[in-house]
Amino acid sequence: MIQVVEGDITLLDVDAIVNAANESLLGGGGVDGAIHRRAGPMLVEECRTLGGARPGEAKMTGGYNLKARQVIHAVGPVFYGGRRGEPELLASCYRNALALADRHGLRSIAFPAISTGAYGYPIDAAAQIAVREARAFEKTHPEVRIVFCCFSPRDAGIYRRYLAS
Ligand code: AR6
Repeated sequence: MIQVVEGDITLLDVDAIVNAANESLLGGGGVDGAIHRRAGPMLVEECRTLGGARPGEAKMTGGYNLKARQVIHAVGPVFYGGRRGEPELLASCYRNALALADRHGLRSIAFPAISTGAYGYPIDAAAQIAVREARAFEKTHPEVRIVFCCFSPRDAGIYRRYLAS
């Protein structure tokens, strides 16, 4: 099942929320800052043990004060125009996060629109990749609930359009 919701991902009651992190995995602005604030300082303590991550990679921690049991920290690509491997790196974020969720038997996972804020990825192209990867995963894992958590009605409309097509 694939759903689109509007709002703050830090409030969702799911097995895992995905963080749009940077390579340090030590927090930042945007959704990353919001997740760290609500999870509390234990989150960055665990993140310090992870040794960072490269664009396209994903690593999992506990959720601490979040409702979500786990946080999957995925590093999206910075968008430089689309010819520096950005589409493949963004797709890898979704694939790796979903594979990690699967390996740990998680049944629900919520994604923000990775890379579409500070990293500048156009929302339209990014949503298309996100929906394609979710659909591919859904074929073999129909029992997992995938939620796209959009921070604006406009973003939600774009996801809904791709999901309907
Ligand atoms: N819930 C859901 N979505 C959110 C929330 C929230 N609470 N807050 C923001 N968004 P961004 P990036 C949306 O910039 O582009 C950080 O500093 C936002 O509207 O958070 O991957 C990291 O540390 C946008 O649609 O992530 C990195 O340095 C989406 O989340 C860098 O920014 C992603 O925006 C990563 O940049």
